[in-house]
Amino acid sequence: MSRYLSASQAQLFYDRFGSRQDAQGFYEDAALAALAAHLDCADATRVFELGCGTGRFAEMLLTGYLPHDAHYAACDLSQTMVGLARTRLGRFGDRVQVWQAGASASFPAQPAAYDLVLSTYVLDLLAPGDIARVLAQAARCLRPGGQLGLVSLTRGPGLFSGLVSRLWGAIAALRPGLVGGCRPVVLARYLDAATWQIIHDSTVTSWLIPSEVLVALRREGNQKEHPRP
Ligand SMILES: C[S@@+](CC[C@H](N)C(=O)[O-])C[C@H]1O[C@@H](n2cnc3c(N)ncnc32)[C@H](O)[C@@H]1O
Repeated sequence: MSRYLSASQAQLFYDRFGSRQDAQGFYEDAALAALAAHLDCADATRVFELGCGTGRFAEMLLTGYLPHDAHYAACDLSQTMVGLARTRLGRFGDRVQVWQAGASASFPAQPAAYDLVLSTYVLDLLAPGDIARVLAQAARCLRPGGQLGLVSLTRGPGLFSGLVSRLWGAIAALRPGLVGGCRPVVLARYLDAATWQIIHDSTVTSWLIPSEVLVALRREGNQKEHPRP
């Protein structure tokens, strides 16, 4: 049995989970707030989010951080999540576009089209090869100097948070469906230094559950070729 959920298993899980995702705020909210605080949103008028869930982070950024003329594009594998996000973000009108992602994490086609690419609590449910593919697509979609903002479950730095993350990782390895496929990962290890300059990387722990908060800039020049899958 695979230790990672397939795209169809993840879709089924999150279609059923739906708005209960927002109840994870007890440990996610502090990390999402830390990410928002470390992003430079002043000139981010073109934003893309992979795996937007119910649109909670999008709403937070559009309400309090992004310029009033910012456009926010987002996708999610789950049709239920797409519906919830469209409803939640409806008041932003045509500044927001949400679509259902295909199994291979649908990024927009245009290269260098975005100032900011985001993904929170999504990379931690992907297999390592898929994380690398997502990061390559993020690099292709960002303009040079554009920002990548990520949050994921990670390994706990303290005794008790370390125990919690080890227990979580063990459950995820045995029964990934019990934890929505999510497991503790170290995001910084996936970022290739030739492509990304990490400008913030911290661990935020809430209720003993640790999250990694990472902001990186897409380097200018010396770009590797990142073909679409
Ligand atoms: C743990 S939830 C996090 C949702 C939201 N980003 C948040 O922070 O609350 C993971 C989300 O990623 C979505 N997802 C999983 N795999 C995906 C993929 N390959 N492409 C796009 N979305 C995906 C799921 O449907 C789900 O909504």
